[in-house]
Formats: sequence, C-alpha cells, structure tokens
Amino acid sequence: MTKVAVLKEGAAEPRVAAIPETVRKLAGKGYELLVERGAGERAGFEDTAYEAAGARLVTRPAAVSEADVLLVVTGPDPSDLKGAKKGARLVGALSPATRGAEVGGYAGLGLEALAMEWMPRITRAQSMDILSSQSNLAGYKAVIDAAALYQRAFPMMMTAAGTVSPAKLFVMGVGVAGLQAIATAKRLGAQVSATDVRSATREQILSLGAKPIFVEAVEGIEGEGQGGYAGETSEEYKKAQAALVSEHIGKQDVVITTALIPGRPAPRLISDAQLATMKPGSVIVDLAAEAGGNVEGCVAGEVTERHGVRIIGAVQLARSLAGDAAALYSRNIANFLLAFTAEPDNAESDSPATGGLLSLPDDDEIVAAIRLTRDGAIVHERLRAMG
Ligand code: NAI
Repeated sequence: MTKVAVLKEGAAEPRVAAIPETVRKLAGKGYELLVERGAGERAGFEDTAYEAAGARLVTRPAAVSEADVLLVVTGPDPSDLKGAKKGARLVGALSPATRGAEVGGYAGLGLEALAMEWMPRITRAQSMDILSSQSNLAGYKAVIDAAALYQRAFPMMMTAAGTVSPAKLFVMGVGVAGLQAIATAKRLGAQVSATDVRSATREQILSLGAKPIFVEAVEGIEGEGQGGYAGETSEEYKKAQAALVSEHIGKQDVVITTALIPGRPAPRLISDAQLATMKPGSVIVDLAAEAGGNVEGCVAGEVTERHGVRIIGAVQLARSLAGDAAALYSRNIANFLLAFTAEPDNAESDSPATGGLLSLPDDDEIVAAIRLTRDGAIVHERLRAMG
C-alpha cells in the first residue's frame, strides 16, 4: 500500500498539504495516510480530526522515513528530509525557479520532486492548479487589507450628516487574483476600474460590473495570451500604457496591482512620479511584490509610504486565510494524486488494499511539466537549461 505522509510546515507557513476531508478521500482510494503530529493545527485542523478521517499520527522521523509520497506546502530544506526512501515522491510548491540548490538537494537524496506550481494550464489540470486557488484568495485579501488601511469608507453612504463618496479602486492585472479583487471591491461598494494587457480580460471586467481602462491605439496581447499568460509588451505599448496610467491614477483612492510575466521580473506599472500625483491617504497593494513589484519603491513584506501614499508589499497573502487556503491547496493535491492513481487490477474488488498506487507516466503532459528530479538527477528541461 502506498504510504502518503503529510508533513508539518516550518514556522512561516500556517497552511497544510492535506486536510481531514482529503485524507478521507485518499484513504478511501487505498492510500495509507501518515500525518505528522500538529501538521494542521495552525490552519484549524486538529490531530483528532485527521485520526477520525483514517490517518495515523506520527513523528517527523517516522513520516519522512516511511513515506512513499511526501506532501508539503512549501519546499522543505533537503536536510530535513534525510532518511527518506530512495524514489519517494515529494509533492508541493517547491519554487524550482528560485531554489536551484534545494532542488539539487532533493535529487541528491534520490527523491522524485514534483513542483505543483508548474502545473500546465490545460483544462484537465484546472482542479490541480495551486497558483489559481491561492491567487483567488490573495485577490480577495488584498482588497480587505487595503480597506483596513484606507482611512475612509468604500461604499457610498447617504446620511443625515451628508454623503460619503464611494472609494475609487483600480485593479491592474486581471488574472485570477485581479478578478477576485474586482469582485470583492464591487461587493464592498467601491467604484471599480481595471486594466490588463490581454484583450480577453475586457469582457471579464465588464461582466463583473467594473470599467475597463485599456490602451486603445497600440495592440497589446491578443485574446488570452500564450497559455493564459501575458508576455512582454512592445516599447510603444509600454509608453501608451504609462500615459494611460498617468491620466487615470491621480483620481484613484486604492490600487491593487497583480501583474506578472512568467519567468521575468514583474512589469513596472506605477512610477514614483505617478505616485506623486495620487491623493495623500491613498493605498496601494502590490501583489507582485515578491517578483520585484509593479510599483516603484514597493518593498516585499513591508508597508512603505511615498508621497503620502501607503504601499503594501504583499507576500503570500493566502497564508493569512490559512483555513481556506489549506482546504483549496489540499484539494488541488488530492485531485492530482487521484488523477494518477492506478485502478485496481480487479475492478470488482472493493478491497482498498488493491488501490492506492500512484502511477506517473513519463509521456503525460502534466507529469512532464512538474517532475523536477528522478533517480538522483535533475530531469526537468527548464532547470537543466538554467544549469
Ligand atoms: P498571472 O498571475 O501570470 O498575471 C496576472 C495578470 O497580470 C494577468 O492577467 C496578466 O495578463 C497581467 N499582466 C501582465 N503584464 C501586465 C502589464 N504590463 N500590464 C497589465 N497587466 C499585466 O496570471 P494568472 O492570474 O495566473 O492567470 C492569467 C489567465 O490564465 C487567466 O485568464 C486565467 O483564467 C487563466 N488560467 C487558466 C488556467 C487553466 O486553464 N488551467 C489556470 C489558471 C489560470
């Protein structure tokens, strides 16, 4: 029977890679579940709930040494996985693009490392997409954090003492996080506008009742973009976009930026000179802070103030909604495992012992996209190309 271990995360990470619901599901398919004691505590899932769902509570050394599959949220230090079985699979958000040394360490331990953030954007993989599930929550939380810092109200209020004007909120980058930010801001009563380089987002912005602000004279990125992702735009487009932002931004109270380009630093969307045109007391949440930031002067993990505007350098916002974030992440992971669980030979048998076999075919598009290491070597083309 394949043993799947759920590891307790480090101090900075409150999420967990399996919740009792997904433990029950995996156990039902014949996997044996081991949960490190206290693994779900900070996301609100008690040890007793895991036990009731069919897991065995174990110590860290037992989880690491017994497991065929290790489930994590953030990639652990390879030294924490010493004693793992050769060929054991490590599944999680392993940050391969920025953690080359650690990925090398996983290879050195003989682990098969599978990076969930490199899941391809194909229909079949949608339910396994951790970037989408966590970005959605981050988009929501960005608006809540902005509202908490903004010293005025979001909705229009007509009172006997006069009218409170609605906040004007501008979303830059309308992917998964941006769409949720628009929806949340609308619910809070703000006047919302939004922009993106991908033309397909115009309809999405309109359908949420917000105002699209687009560069008209120069072509951006047609339709959805390559695999749903934006690429670098032309210099001409960048100039036109900067002019558009300059014209619009001085009238905004709150700005949420989410623009990312895979494999590149985040595009600079707001310059210091543009910040200076905003009203003092305005608030910006930069969700691209870790990728270098969309806003000049933004510092990841900090709130900075420039020209009276406060800029939140948001980092891993989904962590502050650990319960929901862990639940969605865990379902992504379980959906991945279940999609690659070999059916028992005898379909008539209801014995779970015949199930629980994780089979990852080499020629599968998903497997090829996320498999980083195997048999002691780095096998992912992108990582090998990076050297
Ligand atoms: P992302 O996190 O890579 O980027 C966020 C947004 O920033 C994107 O909309 C992008 O177009 C925009 N952006 C980039 N450069 C910009 C610039 N200079 N100015 C303004 N905006 C800029 O994207 P995310 O949120 O991961 O998703 C993008 C698309 O992919 C969405 O349409 C989504 O529906 C699709 N998607 C499809 C999936 C699937 O089919 N399995 C899974 C996840 C997303």
